[in-house]
Amino acid sequence: MSDTRANKRFRSQEWFDNPNNPGMTALYVERYQNQEYTRDELQAEKPIIGIANSGSDIAPCNKIHVFLMDRIKAGIREAGGIPMEFPVHPIQETGKRPTAALDRNLSYLGLVEVLHGYPLDGVVLTTGCDKTTPAMLMGAATVDIPAIALNGGPMLDGWWKGKRAGSGTIVWESRRLLSEGKIDYEEFMSRVCSSAPSLGHCNTMGTASTMNAMAEALGMSLTGNSAIPAPFRERMAMAYQTGKRIVEMVYEDLKPSDILTREAFENAIVVNGAIGGSTNAPPHLQAVARHAGVELDVKDWETIGFDVPLLVNMQPAGEYLGESFFRAGGVPAVMEELRKAGRIHEGAMTATGKTMGENVTGLGSQDTDVIKTYDAPMRQNAGFKVLSGNLFDSALMKTSVISADFQKRFLSEPGREGILEARAIVFEGPEDYHDRINDPDLKIDEHCILFIRNVGCVGYPGSAEVVNMQPPDALIKQGINHMPTVGDGRQSGTSESPSILNASPEAVVGGGLAYLQTGDMVRLDLNASTMNALVEDAEWEKRKADWTAPELVHQTPWQEIYRKHVGQLSDGGCLELATAYQKVARVLPRDNH
Ligand code: FES
Ligand code: MG
Repeated sequence: MSDTRANKRFRSQEWFDNPNNPGMTALYVERYQNQEYTRDELQAEKPIIGIANSGSDIAPCNKIHVFLMDRIKAGIREAGGIPMEFPVHPIQETGKRPTAALDRNLSYLGLVEVLHGYPLDGVVLTTGCDKTTPAMLMGAATVDIPAIALNGGPMLDGWWKGKRAGSGTIVWESRRLLSEGKIDYEEFMSRVCSSAPSLGHCNTMGTASTMNAMAEALGMSLTGNSAIPAPFRERMAMAYQTGKRIVEMVYEDLKPSDILTREAFENAIVVNGAIGGSTNAPPHLQAVARHAGVELDVKDWETIGFDVPLLVNMQPAGEYLGESFFRAGGVPAVMEELRKAGRIHEGAMTATGKTMGENVTGLGSQDTDVIKTYDAPMRQNAGFKVLSGNLFDSALMKTSVISADFQKRFLSEPGREGILEARAIVFEGPEDYHDRINDPDLKIDEHCILFIRNVGCVGYPGSAEVVNMQPPDALIKQGINHMPTVGDGRQSGTSESPSILNASPEAVVGGGLAYLQTGDMVRLDLNASTMNALVEDAEWEKRKADWTAPELVHQTPWQEIYRKHVGQLSDGGCLELATAYQKVARVLPRDNH
């Protein structure tokens, strides 16, 4: 073994091997040696590695981790560590109501307490479904013990009648067909279920694949971790290698604070543009950055990321799904294309112990139909626009999913390209939208823009994925599949709608959307990155003065606590008070008896 192994005293030894306090040491050892650990090994100067298991029956996207545990543990043992698996609060995107987003900060809090309060020297973060990845990275950033992310991997590709059926994306497509009367409920169900053929997370470049790509781009996982499909043998090997590597990271004292630097976040922003990543990435990365103490601003997504070309041909921005992306080289191939173009900070340190440049050099695209080269991308300028104006301080628009049809219909008036002036139709939430979207009295046509409010962090609570509103059935029958939509909530990363979303501050805390009325004219200017209600200042101020905040009804104690402390999406939707706690592993907790 290398010199780094000599005379290393671990944090866990403060529990299990502290001769200055024999009473407490005995108490700590006796209960852990009654299971698979012996007293000798607990006291043997071996690092104890936590494995944060996010998989369970209630969290199917991450359930593969239940079966990967043995391989992770084998890797930890092989490298001379002691594995200790523990559960984390489940976050299942498709199961949790009112929204899994509400639970990201709860899972984060739970992880911080476990990592701080138990005898752990390092941790494997088992990631997958959308919010599990940021929750774990946030927790690791706050505690700052050596940590490595292991994705569960996407499902196998879904197929329906000879065509790829991608997670989520097939839902949006099928619900339009249902509205048009082209399919019935039975076919609708079968089409959607065909997209989920195995264990794993969403197989599109939705939020799960995006956030795991972000973890890899940040340097928080082994090279190539994120794209391996869940059932593949390579996934088991990755679990084993990740287990081995975390032990080395503990000996090297390689911590999140060494990896999560400003350069790492800039790399992640660039990668997000190139993969056509989810609009959920900005708030999640903002949250990780804040817990890591790194300065990042929502505007950075446009400044650093807008001019990045789209390289990955994967649904919802493209055609393929996770298996093809993996075979084409996954995230390392994307980063190698970006590195060769000078778009990556090559010197950023990573979990491998090497720099990002060293990790990806030579690992270019294996299939340029799936991962394009930088010089021949799917489209130019594929990052996010970050808009502002009197309706919000910031809102995002994902330009990689603006279709030719959408561009032509809404953004191509001769001489006024990128500018849209339209009549606002305002909905108070998803229930109101469903009740009224087909109401003929609203006279919704091509010259309208749909708004939804009261669906942000405080309003929903948790910020709901409802901004990608479908046009009225009558317009869909005329071939208008997407309309401009705006809201203070989010949308699924699997959606192919170029919505304007994550508007901050949200309406219920007095953001500008609160004062908009159906019938107001609104102007979007993508050239200037602005969106404004065209309402006289005096009238706007009067509406503000007359406004009263809606009453919030909590259904659980956590909803009340969350609403009291959560910030806005532009600031990561963090528990604001939690951002003051940094690197909490530096201070040992008190003894418990
Ligand atoms: Fe869990 Fe998409 S719903 S990964
Ligand atoms: Mg979702």
